Amino acid sequence: KIVILDFGSQTTQLIGRRLRELDTFCEILPYNKFPQNDPNVIGVILSGSPYSVYDPEAFKLDLSEIRGRYPILGICYGAQYMAHVNGGKVEPTGSREYGRANLKTVDTTSPLFKGFDKDSQVWMSHGDTITALPDEFRCIASTDSVEFAAYQSENEPIYAVQFHPEVFHSLQGTQLLKNFAVDICGSRQDWSPASFVDTTVAELKAQLGNDRVILGLSGGVDSSVCAVLLHRAIGKNLTCIFVDHGMLRKNEFRDVLNDYECLGLNVIGVDASEKFFKELEGVTEPEQKRKIIGKGFIDVFDAEAHKITDARWLAQGTIYPDRIESLNITGKVIKSHHNVGGLPEKMNLRLCEPLQWLFKDEVRRVGRQLGMPEHLITRHPFPGPGLAVRILGDITREKVQVLQEADDIFIRGLREWTTEVDGRQVSLYDQTWQAGVVLLPIKSVGVMGDERTYEKAVALRAVTSQDAMTADWAHLPYEFMAQVSNDIINKVKGINRVCYDISSKPPSTIEWE
Ligand code: XMP
Repeated sequence: KIVILDFGSQTTQLIGRRLRELDTFCEILPYNKFPQNDPNVIGVILSGSPYSVYDPEAFKLDLSEIRGRYPILGICYGAQYMAHVNGGKVEPTGSREYGRANLKTVDTTSPLFKGFDKDSQVWMSHGDTITALPDEFRCIASTDSVEFAAYQSENEPIYAVQFHPEVFHSLQGTQLLKNFAVDICGSRQDWSPASFVDTTVAELKAQLGNDRVILGLSGGVDSSVCAVLLHRAIGKNLTCIFVDHGMLRKNEFRDVLNDYECLGLNVIGVDASEKFFKELEGVTEPEQKRKIIGKGFIDVFDAEAHKITDARWLAQGTIYPDRIESLNITGKVIKSHHNVGGLPEKMNLRLCEPLQWLFKDEVRRVGRQLGMPEHLITRHPFPGPGLAVRILGDITREKVQVLQEADDIFIRGLREWTTEVDGRQVSLYDQTWQAGVVLLPIKSVGVMGDERTYEKAVALRAVTSQDAMTADWAHLPYEFMAQVSNDIINKVKGINRVCYDISSKPPSTIEWE
């Protein structure tokens, strides 16, 4: 595997994704947690950072831990840091250089730039720049404004680039990472969904033996794939629990339960909506809503799980982005996400997380490999607290029902409306990362027939995204929005106005609460 040491850059996760796309296994670790004795490491990447090498708080790494043992690739801060500590010169440019640049010179005889075009487009984002290289390093690329856009060591496999090969706008960035991973580090590119399923099923059999395992299902891709994988390994020894907190989509509890049964899973469905509506009564503050639902969920799950007296393991569909230990530089909580976060501490069970090394797109590939139906695999993400965070203000059963109806019209519409993408018809649902309706705590005046109405407004939200870290509002066709707006106002009692949310993330978030 390739270890990516994270110095806090926004794009560190992207480096990981790119390597995985090259079927190369990688692990992202904080800059100071290099795994000293791991025999599987074949190379190391040093990420970018929000700091300058001169910042007093700048993250420092003892390079002697890795130098001479593995090939190294420094990216942005990683490049500056290696130049700086080896006697080169790094200086502030006065202004941040951000955006597109084209290489002016590039040494395509360097293994790092094999196959590169002479004027390849790269993406820069830095404040400091390297103004002198240490003696042992040689410049292998430059742009108009950056003399040392890339360098390599004369004597050992050390490479560095000032630009960001991991971002989409570095057009040959994947080629560069492939050159590093495959040619320089010797990755065999042997990750495949089929090999993952085979080895994981064998490992799970060995690990779990004849033990009983319980798993919380949410209807989402991760927990569903996790369940099917475990089912393949241990069959009826897996018991799944699916809790309905009353704030799922229209008919979702019934439909998903049915899907799971078709897959042969042993699922206990628990309708706990009464409890949640009671506890949420009158609560309007978003964080408080999240806390109540998070805690309530754990209580219900725990009570159910205790009925399975011989359970030894708790399985969770945790995936890699949930686990990457992030260098939380600002230290601020934006939203407290609930999944089954608090469960393992409370329950006396051992934890089993077979998807813990996978990114979302890999989970989907595994799901297909397991023969799961496409509609389960391509489902949009849905927040744990469900429609509760899409009803601004207090929550009642009636409001949930109104929102469910509007949401159902929007989502069904997205599934049915197709447009041409690269020569084939693709539904708007499949062209968006996530979509839903938000019930606003305001009323406005309308007119229906000859009657004055004074009813609620909803906002439609649909976004495109790669990973939910950043998102743009989806540019849905006007005719489609007109139809959905009409349908909602005509069919959902209590709503007389529909708006479309055109905010991106950041500065907004995907959910409103
Ligand atoms: P935001 O609103 O922070 O959402 O831009 C990012 C992604 O996370 C989802 N989300 C949640 N997922 N539990 C989850 O499992 C939660 O509590 C939760 N809150 C938000 C959101 O739908 C989006 O995909």
